Amino acid sequence: MNTTHDSRSEIQWVTQNHQLVPYSDAKISIMAPGLTFAVLVFEGYRAYWSDAQEDLQIFRLAEHMKRLEFSMSLLNLDHPPSTEALTDDILSTLRANEFRQDTYIRLQVYVDEWGSMLSTGPVGSSVICRPRPRVADFETGKKFVVSSWRRNADSATPPRIKASANYMNSRLAGLEAKRQGAGGAVLLNEDGTVSEGPGGCIFFLRDGVFVTPDGTSGILESVTRRTVLDIAGPLGIETAERTVDRTELYLAEEAFYCGTGQEIMPITAFDDKPVGDGEPGPLTRRLQARYDDVVRGNTDDHPKWRTPVYKV
Ligand SMILES: Cc1ncc(COP(=O)(O)O)c(C=O)c1O
Repeated sequence: MNTTHDSRSEIQWVTQNHQLVPYSDAKISIMAPGLTFAVLVFEGYRAYWSDAQEDLQIFRLAEHMKRLEFSMSLLNLDHPPSTEALTDDILSTLRANEFRQDTYIRLQVYVDEWGSMLSTGPVGSSVICRPRPRVADFETGKKFVVSSWRRNADSATPPRIKASANYMNSRLAGLEAKRQGAGGAVLLNEDGTVSEGPGGCIFFLRDGVFVTPDGTSGILESVTRRTVLDIAGPLGIETAERTVDRTELYLAEEAFYCGTGQEIMPITAFDDKPVGDGEPGPLTRRLQARYDDVVRGNTDDHPKWRTPVYKV
């Protein structure tokens, strides 16, 4: 079963190895180490359409690129593509498709052709952009369950980088949660404290403070998580990054899941315990509204976070 909305019919052009090609012409070798041994790192970005600006704007491009550079450095590639070249690829792919709606961008860098798990080249790259509206769960929220799987550790396959190898762990947790009828999973790390979900970070409100597991809890250093920490203070909402025990989730007054794809999605229960009254909370709603204003440029604050696509 395909669980991602199929928008292939809306995509005319993708970029592979810095060349625009039709989607069906983009190819990867079946002997590619990127395929068999997961020698692949990637990024997911969103670009938001703004009626007021009459432009598409990529959110926090620089921060995603910085993370990608680190992810690539752990793959030890022969010639990693430069941030400038990859930025050009994203811009030219968006422009070639003439998207004028909210769009999700997936950029991948991998070892292609004929190779082994130790191959460091030849390096391939791809960019695909697809229309992607906001998820319905943004309004309603979802119930989460604590997974029986543990988060992959920094000493094994580091969760700090966005590597496809890490998503085996995410997949196991996500499928387990689905079998249990839940909307999402919480992964504990090897120490038994909370890390994150399969594809996003977790915040919960306790005694009026929004708490999120710290950077050494086994998380991807999420751009959305950073954004929430940045925008909460000026709204008068206190935040803390620290180690989080599982049972603290059961004391949550509000909670949400965050990531580029989900944005800020309320969590309405952890295991059998409702979060607050089981409905998305008022502070979560305020953060969602502010996030929306910031990503779309309905505010002049943080201009560097928005990269214009058509107006240069
Ligand atoms: C495992 C994991 N954690 C967190 C996130 C959220 O990261 P970001 O906000 O940078 O999209 C993602 C999504 O990319 C993810 O896959």
